[in-house]
Amino acid sequence: MRGHITDPGAEGGLALRELPEPEPSPHDVVVGVGAYGLNRGELALLQQRTDGWRPGQDVAGTVLTEAADRSGPPEGSRVVGIADGGGWSARVAVPSHRVAVLPEQVTFEQAAALPVAGLTALRTLRQGGALLGARVLVTGASGGVGSFAVQLAAAGGAEVTALVSGKHRIGALRGLGAGNVVTGIGEDAGPFDLVLDGVGGPVLAEAIHRLAPGATLVAYGIAGGADRTPLAFYDFAAAPLARLVGFFVYASGEDTFGRDLGVLATLVDRGRLDPQLGSVRDWAETTDAVEALRRRTVTGKTVLTVPN
Ligand SMILES: NC(=O)c1ccc[n+]([C@@H]2O[C@H](COP(=O)([O-])OP(=O)(O)OC[C@H]3O[C@@H](n4cnc5c(N)ncnc54)[C@H](OP(=O)(O)O)[C@@H]3O)[C@@H](O)[C@H]2O)c1
Repeated sequence: MRGHITDPGAEGGLALRELPEPEPSPHDVVVGVGAYGLNRGELALLQQRTDGWRPGQDVAGTVLTEAADRSGPPEGSRVVGIADGGGWSARVAVPSHRVAVLPEQVTFEQAAALPVAGLTALRTLRQGGALLGARVLVTGASGGVGSFAVQLAAAGGAEVTALVSGKHRIGALRGLGAGNVVTGIGEDAGPFDLVLDGVGGPVLAEAIHRLAPGATLVAYGIAGGADRTPLAFYDFAAAPLARLVGFFVYASGEDTFGRDLGVLATLVDRGRLDPQLGSVRDWAETTDAVEALRRRTVTGKTVLTVPN
């Protein structure tokens, strides 16, 4: 079968070539990939694993071989799933507890945008408890995780403030449910009961100063770069008992990935969650799509389609 593999000699360090078929464990389904999504985290891994690595976590497609232990959906099911690599390929093995069957109306392109970003948004929001009436700040709001988080928080009844990187991104937030879209965290912003931060550095430092007493700040990414955030006890003067949570999606309960992917796919089916497909391209253009994500020219999610 064909698929992507890192190769230091290939253009952009990534080649589409003939690869061995997946070797499923008894608990894996083999998915014939219809579409796959890109994640910012994969950009760093592509630079580290430059030779012989097969990337790809977010996949949607059809079950070609059901799990030998009968734990997953049957052959022919349309599914979304989160693979342990190898998803930028025609076929991939995925543990059956990490897939969800797709509602008929949800396309593979929509579904492929969901896994890492959607699960991160859903599960970081859960860190803050009840959303009804909560004042929530989402940084990096035009990004993959951010645009899901804004919509899910609004659907849960929160008062959402969306922070974007500049005026050019404000339009992208229209219709996602944020009550307020801002390009900076001013002194008058907040206070917030829950902050989701995927940008880091100075943005994280400013957000800490806008916390309400007892608030939760979930730090999950560093899309703005690896600058460290200085922190002192006094930063919590206005927010006693606030807590900081370092969030890692793969440590957030992998056994229920499939169930939560089902939650997200159902919301898409009901028109309550829009996967914000910023770029949908043929898989032969994966190297260019990776570069566009790296240059921050995409708003929302990037998805590649695999020809039958
Ligand atoms: N911990 C986990 O389990 C986990 C899971 C998923 C993602 N992540 C991490 O979370 C981060 C976000 O992921 P993603 O998939 O949402 O990435 P993404 O789609 O690239 O979105 C990143 C967002 O951050 C914004 N941004 C970047 N630099 C900024 C800056 N200096 N100031 C203000 N905003 C800035 C971008 O705005 P522009 O588009 O305007 O540039 C964009 O809205 C990444 O670091 C990723 O690796 C971690």
